Amino acid sequence: MVPRKNAGRASPFLLILLSFGFFLGTYNLLILVMHKASKSATGELTDPIISRPGDLAGGGAPKFHVALTATDAPYSKWQCRVMYYWYKKMKDEPGSDMGGFTRVLHSGSPDNLMDEIPTVVTDPLPEGLDRGYIVLNRPWAFVQWLEKATIEEDYILMAEPDHVFVNPLPNLAHGDHPAAFPFFYIKPSDHEKIIRKYYPEEKGPVTNVDPIGNSPVIIKKSILEKIAPTWMNVSLRMKDDPETDKAFGWVLEMYGYAVASALHGVRHILRKDFMLQPPWDLDIGKKFIIHYTYGCDYNMKGELTYGKIGEWRFDKRSHLRGPPPKNISLPPPGVPESVIRLVMAVNEASANLPDWETP
Ligand SMILES: *[C@@H]1O[C@H](CO)[C@@H](O)[C@H](O)[C@H]1NC(C)=O
Ligand SMILES: *[C@@H]1O[C@H](CO)[C@@H](O)[C@H](O)[C@H]1NC(C)=O
Repeated sequence: MVPRKNAGRASPFLLILLSFGFFLGTYNLLILVMHKASKSATGELTDPIISRPGDLAGGGAPKFHVALTATDAPYSKWQCRVMYYWYKKMKDEPGSDMGGFTRVLHSGSPDNLMDEIPTVVTDPLPEGLDRGYIVLNRPWAFVQWLEKATIEEDYILMAEPDHVFVNPLPNLAHGDHPAAFPFFYIKPSDHEKIIRKYYPEEKGPVTNVDPIGNSPVIIKKSILEKIAPTWMNVSLRMKDDPETDKAFGWVLEMYGYAVASALHGVRHILRKDFMLQPPWDLDIGKKFIIHYTYGCDYNMKGELTYGKIGEWRFDKRSHLRGPPPKNISLPPPGVPESVIRLVMAVNEASANLPDWETP
């Protein structure tokens, strides 16, 4: 027989069959891809989502509402004033997708900033439920605010008082995928045993829990509406469990959000450029938010003396009872740009805001 000859001379019919098969194969593949894509749209991806730098020029994406959770403590108030000042400066710059702004004031009654900053007052948790851990009020504040407010934008940025916008912020979320800043100290995989108390095995691997907190996060409002009650629930249960409370300490409520969002099958786009944290991050570059949670201590040679009070210092915790003075002296030469820019940002706000000294 001559099978080789036959095989080499494919009949047109076979060709048609083959290409039909190929077409079917491609079609199946297409269905598969579409299926995967729609899966990813509901957030059921198992791989971490790595963002593509440069694909988000900003401006033109759906706008997001800036939600700043805060209390009426003097410490919170001066930070909110600086925060809102820089929001107003950046909002209409090219590249910004920033929409409206709300300070979600979760201390239960209006304060003296109601006329300066758009504010919605929400109730704190019932007496004692927060066990002195004030930030547990955040999820409860979001639950209440989302329920009672009419928010024009479809996306929300969850922000905090110690955030300063240093570049116009685009909407970093992609459709149903929220965007978050990855914190190096949030490591769900290092706490598998504890995470499993709240994120059962049938939900998937612990690596589904993103290394994030609730802020900064840009997220679709409709998705946050689902996550917020779970976030509150999980955080309260975590606080109630001595082992969890001890392991997570002051970042417990961040784990609360990370676990709650994972329970809803939501994975975040991790954006390292979302935020910079002086004194550790040195340059502003194209990053968007300065988070001044760490004290900045330097000697006069411009050397970091972290953990030791420096000859020059800026630390938000030095100003618990009222605002820092106007015109804080700039740091000595050699101090990184991030620290200089932070002090300049606070100085500019304090110079321009009325009655700065009023606590
Ligand atoms: C909160 O958790 C409890 C169980 O601890 C559950 O019964 C309740 O439905 C949860 N509520 C929400 C809003 O997730
Ligand atoms: C701020 O302080 C510097 C000295 O540190 C001084 O030279 C400058 O005039 C002050 N600016 C204002 C607006 O007070």
